[in-house]
Amino acid sequence: MHARALAATTTALLAGAVLTLAAPGAHADDGGAPPVVIAHRGASAYAPENTLPAIDKAAALGFRWVENDVQRTKDGRLVVIHDDSLKRTTNVEDVFPDRAPWKVKDFTYAEIARLDAGSWFGPEYVGTRVPTLAEYMRRVEHNHQNLLLELKNPEFYPGIEQQTLKVLANAGWLDAPHVAGRLVVQSFNADSVRTVHQLKPAVKTGFLGTPNLTDLPGYAGFVDQINPTYGSISASYVNAVHALAGAHGAPLEVSTWTVDDAASAKKVVGYGVDGIISNKPDVVRAALQE
Ligand code: G3P
Ligand code: CA
Repeated sequence: MHARALAATTTALLAGAVLTLAAPGAHADDGGAPPVVIAHRGASAYAPENTLPAIDKAAALGFRWVENDVQRTKDGRLVVIHDDSLKRTTNVEDVFPDRAPWKVKDFTYAEIARLDAGSWFGPEYVGTRVPTLAEYMRRVEHNHQNLLLELKNPEFYPGIEQQTLKVLANAGWLDAPHVAGRLVVQSFNADSVRTVHQLKPAVKTGFLGTPNLTDLPGYAGFVDQINPTYGSISASYVNAVHALAGAHGAPLEVSTWTVDDAASAKKVVGYGVDGIISNKPDVVRAALQE
């Protein structure tokens, strides 16, 4: 750990912060730890995205960090699914042919529970369901995994920040050991991330996107991570992010997405990123080990 990171970490500890950020500043480009590899929507190249089998597959491959997407049903249940429509990743067109465009927010949980969220991916996954966030958290815990939780389309779901935090609290995920190193909440919606930070300042947060350098200090007030698409960054951008202290006093981290090939993985390692989010985490891990 270099002096900047050590100073920031010491400051955070002295301030009584409960967070122990993952090796802040120990970037691969300066001889530090390699990036953490995060299984995107679970190991979603190998199992249906955002399902329990997808996080089980990530666990079987040896990955502790998984990413997911959280949205809300018509009757107020939080579910794990990426698109705002059920069409691509379930058989909703067959079960409810007259309900186009099949928006998540227009279906009750009882209706969504009838859908098959695995058969689109492969016959071995027939019968897989869209998980509730509560079910998902139980499985992440059972698997001893960590979670990068994305609030997806929060503008459609007023109050989803508080509701998500309540589900996390009920699942035991807002105690010190979990917030210290097992949970990050992120979104493309900066207002939503800021709300999470204000409601539960101990929770580590991330902004999805590539803010202009001049805007980064504003984000640093309420996030710990800036998580951009890998095609939008460079070594100098990552350095500029690292130069700022995040919401908990440690250097802002960068987890980039969605990296699914060895060449791109090696490129972003060279940029010094802290995390690599991948549908094929095993491919990224193999590239990192070369
Ligand atoms: O975690 C990064 C990534 O999930 C953001 O994009 O569309 O896959 O949710 P998306
Ligand atoms: Ca996502």
